[in-house]
Order: sequence, then structure tokens, then C-alpha cells
Amino acid sequence: MISQTLAIIKPDAVENKFIGKIITLIEFHGFAISKMRMLRLKKEEAQKFYSIHRGKPFFDPLVDFMISGDIVAICLESENAVDKWREVIGATDPEMAKEGTIRKIFASSKQCNAVHGSDSNENAKIELDFFFN
Ligand code: CMP
Repeated sequence: MISQTLAIIKPDAVENKFIGKIITLIEFHGFAISKMRMLRLKKEEAQKFYSIHRGKPFFDPLVDFMISGDIVAICLESENAVDKWREVIGATDPEMAKEGTIRKIFASSKQCNAVHGSDSNENAKIELDFFFN
């Protein structure tokens, strides 16, 4: 069954001019792009989006990073989209990510890790609503 997930191209990847290369990989891996928008998050929006991480040591720096520049929010569709996209992007820490994954290729640190992917179907729906409704 076809399902959806949220991808975000983060400010580091936008700044480094990796949007085109990342979208090429999205299509290469067989995802359909059904919605896409470029935007800059406000502080309160980034805090809300990452509210599950509130209280963690990396929360404030993460919010500051996510509002530091434009991002691209994308609705991806494929069979098993959540797990498939997480496999394509690789581990949060690029040093731990497998060769060929998007974070291995484009990310520079755990924080500046180029892309986001929803971690469950439930969160994908919440996160897609956040950007597209
Ligand atoms: P993302 O997939 O967007 O989900 C939460 C984000 O928090 C994660 O990618 C990283 O950008 C960031 N993050 C998670 N763990 C750490 C960490 N230990 N140090 C810094 N940033 C982190």
C-alpha cells in the first residue's frame, strides 16, 4: 500500500546548494513527490515541530539551526514510505550512516544532518499536517 512521509531539506543542505542533488536521489529511489514548499520557520514553529525533544541538551541549538535559513518540506509517497526514506537518509549521525545514504554524502554533524524523515506513520501524518494543512 502506498503511504506518505515528510522529508525536510534542512538549512545546511539548502545553504550548500544540495537541493537539486537530494531531489535527484529522492526520485532515483522511486519516491513520488506529491507536495513541496520552501519556507523559513519561525522560532515558535521550530520549537513546536521538535517539541518531542524539548528539554534535551541539543534542543535549543537545534531550533536555532532550523530557523537559520530556508528549508524545503516535501511530501514523499511510496510503498512503506516512512521506513524506506529513513533507510535512504541513514543514521542521525553522519559518521554512523551507511555509505551512499544522504546523510553520509551531505551531512556534516548530528545537528547539521542535511535532511529530516518522519519516524512513524503516526508522526508522518502529524508532521505533514504541520507543513501542508
Ligand atoms: P531529525 O531527524 O530532524 O530529528 C531530530 C533532530 O535533532 C535530528 O535530526 C538532529 O538534527 C538533531 N539531533 C538529534 N540528536 C542530536 C544530538 N545528539 N546532538 C545534536 N543534534 C541532534
